[in-house]
Amino acid sequence: MEINKMWDKYPELKGDLEEVILLMDRNVKCKDKKIENSIKELIYSGGKLLRPSFSIIASRFGNYDKEKSRAVAAALEILHMATLVHDDIIDDADTRRGKETIQSKYGKNYAVYIGDYLFCVCFKLLATHSASLASIKMDTKAMEKICLGEINQMNSKFSLDTSSRKYLSRISGKTAELFALSFYSGASESGCSEKLSKMFFNIGHNIGMAFQIIDDILDYTSNDEELGKPAVSDIKQGIFNLPLIYAINENKKAFKFIEGKEFLEDSDVDIIMDLVYEYKGVDKAMDVAVKYTNKAFKLIDKLPENQYKYILKEVVEKLLDRTA
Ligand code: IPE
Ligand code: IPE
Ligand code: MG
Ligand code: MG
Repeated sequence: MEINKMWDKYPELKGDLEEVILLMDRNVKCKDKKIENSIKELIYSGGKLLRPSFSIIASRFGNYDKEKSRAVAAALEILHMATLVHDDIIDDADTRRGKETIQSKYGKNYAVYIGDYLFCVCFKLLATHSASLASIKMDTKAMEKICLGEINQMNSKFSLDTSSRKYLSRISGKTAELFALSFYSGASESGCSEKLSKMFFNIGHNIGMAFQIIDDILDYTSNDEELGKPAVSDIKQGIFNLPLIYAINENKKAFKFIEGKEFLEDSDVDIIMDLVYEYKGVDKAMDVAVKYTNKAFKLIDKLPENQYKYILKEVVEKLLDRTA
């Protein structure tokens, strides 16, 4: 089994992640082999496994119960996969983790059901292996926020009436919430105090915010091959992310030509890219990602002494200069 190599340095954590993958694998057994195989391809496609890792790291600050922690971690990664399968339908994306997406390979209708099926697997895992009612409540609340974040993004397409505040609120729902939940459930399910679990929630929120901002920056600065998913895809869809928002705020007039459009030509995209560079949108967005990361670092410093504190710091640092 190939676990993403970013975890090679941490053999104990990597061992946990291998078990998490096996647990996910065992829980998607179904009669329909087409369903089973399409999900297994995704499970073994080398994702970064950030959410389950963060959940396990947090659980190491409590009474670590490996069965329970791995089940919670598996449920979180399955939930993440469900959101990716549906996100790829909406974004009409043909690659994910360097492989063809389910929606491209099997069609959008099929992908809707696969995403729904994965949501069920997530709750099946939580219900059978662990989770208190309180944490199931937290999970549904997080799913609600993810959905609302994605809907908000869809409703804001091609709109110049945008601001960094609106953007930050949207990504707080669509991405940071699941990071926060991952830390929180890991901590709380292993018996950490509510105060410590909430501190982990805040750490996750800040890491998640930085993570999505950097993901959006990579849409401008990277390419399909490196990302394993389509680059420049947000602009083409009329999704205006932080680098572009900063440029629009500098010179709204220059972007007037976008207003009212329903799709953008390649030549429009070129103009937009040039303007984003001219107004240093990427640099300004990166400053905000660094700000959120520093907030996370400050909170991590306050965590009780534990070797996982230093692993967490190293991982968060690496996420800042990731290229994929
Ligand atoms: C992709 O998340 C979706 C975003 C929130 C940007 P990841 O970059 O963690 O995806 P995988 O699991 O590693 O493929
Ligand atoms: C990722 O959103 C999916 C969710 C956060 C629900 P994006 O569309 O921004 O991310 P990628 O680039 O497809 O991974
Ligand atoms: Mg997408
Ligand atoms: Mg999307």
